[in-house]
Amino acid sequence: MEIKTIKRIGVLTSGGDAPGMNAAIRATVRAGFYYNLEMYGIYRGYEGMIHNEIKKLESKHISHVLERGGTFLKSARSQEFRTPEGRKKAYENLQKHRIDALVVIGGDGSLTGAHLFYKEFGIPAIGIPGTIDNDLAGTDMTVGFDTACNTAIEAIDKIRDTATSHDRLFFVEVMGRDAGFIAINAGIGSAAAATLIPEKKMPIERLVERLQARKKAMKQSNIVIVAEGGKSGGASEIADKIKKQLPYYDIKVTILGHLQRGGAPSSLDRVLASKLGVAAVEGLLAGKYDVMAGVINNKVVYTPITKAIVDDKEVDEDDFRIAKILST
Ligand code: F6P
Repeated sequence: MEIKTIKRIGVLTSGGDAPGMNAAIRATVRAGFYYNLEMYGIYRGYEGMIHNEIKKLESKHISHVLERGGTFLKSARSQEFRTPEGRKKAYENLQKHRIDALVVIGGDGSLTGAHLFYKEFGIPAIGIPGTIDNDLAGTDMTVGFDTACNTAIEAIDKIRDTATSHDRLFFVEVMGRDAGFIAINAGIGSAAAATLIPEKKMPIERLVERLQARKKAMKQSNIVIVAEGGKSGGASEIADKIKKQLPYYDIKVTILGHLQRGGAPSSLDRVLASKLGVAAVEGLLAGKYDVMAGVINNKVVYTPITKAIVDDKEVDEDDFRIAKILST
């Protein structure tokens, strides 16, 4: 593949925001300056690319952002970018600013956009996995996942206090779209009575049996973690089913929701995002296009975007087994 001369890189965040996105933007821009490149911020993701919300970035734009949650470039889920007309408008705007290459920070939808754009217009693009869901192959963890797990566990600890005081059974729903990574980590990290994830079917009878056994063992509190994308429904639906079978339980439901997307990034997310920002710029300069930068076993690796988004990353069997052993 021909290595293009890259002088101006555009960086954007797209899809659901994730803690550490600011750290990834900052590292990308800093690395660009280090290699004497001009760096452009594309605001509101692909939507902003279509509407020409593009600004040259200077050092001052990225000072004191590493430690902040959210994304100062803002994010959006662009429907228009899904159309060829939308992508053409976006391309024309990049041309106006003479942007040679892109760093796209986001989840599978955002990386799919980068891949299409590269195929259609030949704009070298590299992805940084930025999503709390951890559902991309080609990296051990996505930026934002660790912070989201910490947030979920901290919240569940608080729920545990009140659950214990009232001898209650709580169903706590966590995010993750159709993946159970946050749920399984939150389950292990908060000593949950059970963890329900989309990847594994748990018949309601099995959950009933487990809760009956825990009642017999006089457990003081019971927290069941439910991943939002679960096949048997969300936390409220499961709670309703259990209420019918175990009327002696005083049941409450908490949906953690967008709380999990906010907050200052953890040290792990800051370091991961920083490594990947540098890797993205160095990758582009080395001619690695249409790939996602990730970290596997503490080493930076580049995976074709098509593989990172298509390969179904599985919740580790061992994690599932461990969660089960520890919840009986
Ligand atoms: O992909 C991140 C995520 O937070 C998912 O866990 C969740 O299903 C979805 O985004 C929520 O999206 P929105 O903020 O658009 O409602």
